[in-house]
Amino acid sequence: MREQLLAAEKVIAIDWRDGVLRLLDQRLLPQEETWLEYATAADVAEAIRLMVVRGAPAIGISAAYGLVLGARARLAAGGDWREALEQDFSVLADSRPTAVNLFWALNRMRERLERLKDGEDPLQVLEAEAVSIHESDREANLTMAQLGMELIRKHQGNPQALLTHCNTGALATGGFGTALGVIRAAHLDGLVERVYADETRPWLQGARLTAWELANEGVPVSLNADAAAAHLMKTAGITWVIVGADRITANGDVANKIGTYQLAVCAMHHGVRFMVVAPSSTIDMALESGDDIPIEEREGRELLELGGKRVAADVHAVNPVFDVTPADLIDAIVTEKGIVERPDTAKLAQLMCRKRLH
Ligand code: MRU
Repeated sequence: MREQLLAAEKVIAIDWRDGVLRLLDQRLLPQEETWLEYATAADVAEAIRLMVVRGAPAIGISAAYGLVLGARARLAAGGDWREALEQDFSVLADSRPTAVNLFWALNRMRERLERLKDGEDPLQVLEAEAVSIHESDREANLTMAQLGMELIRKHQGNPQALLTHCNTGALATGGFGTALGVIRAAHLDGLVERVYADETRPWLQGARLTAWELANEGVPVSLNADAAAAHLMKTAGITWVIVGADRITANGDVANKIGTYQLAVCAMHHGVRFMVVAPSSTIDMALESGDDIPIEEREGRELLELGGKRVAADVHAVNPVFDVTPADLIDAIVTEKGIVERPDTAKLAQLMCRKRLH
């Protein structure tokens, strides 16, 4: 399965080569495939804020490369480069608030810097750390895809209808995806009759990115309005809702794209299983519950306009872009360290002590 999955890897969103960071501009997909080049930490932070790159793991990986770019400039400028690099740490950390992978990746970079030995080249060390963050996310995707697929097969071995939300694929990660990785593996294993992709208003990650990724790979996909999800659960024989996560707290609560919470409520009502797929870098053991997660609010313009054209009445728009699904609505959290069924504080703590599988 691992080899089949690797062979199916077609799309990448982040490319680090010869000291240059290239990002596929996700604001323009699927109409245009444009790569943008980044040479400074501040520009990478802006790319994250503007959602040129998005998705929790992809944001973390991009921030790590952004820090490498920052270190290069600070070292070249001479003086107290470590002190100056603090500005790059903060500009990157301020780019988006909800996905913990961003802070996790920056912490890893900081810790590596703190372990720097005499004679080591700081730039080489930081670059190696960023590449390792990127590579290990790719590996985690493979492990989670296999575990999630086995979980689906355990409950029902026939082709089935799955529903997903937002974009959790190659565009959102360093590999081929978290929730979408599981869906890809399930498709390769003959377990997928059809994937229902929520359009994911207002930014349309589902309509523009998930539908594009799945259609490119020949996975049968239907796009639906977010508001159609409950109806589809009642009428289309959906067996699993499978989503990613931006932050999972110590008690198993999950922050993910706005609309995930209502999907979990509807899934519980209809007896549809609910799976969250996320690497352990998305788990924030420092926060007790989802109530503590900062929820990003984006501009009302994302709701008031369509394709840059005003469509809504002249009113104030409220645009929280993430919500929190309580742990008791979740059947399983799939990570590269293993699966936690019916998550709670004790099970999450146990999981975090484990090594990654494979
Ligand atoms: O605002 P976005 O597009 O960055 O939000 C992305 C999501 O909510 C994803 O579901 C989540 O990051 C998991 S991606 C593997």
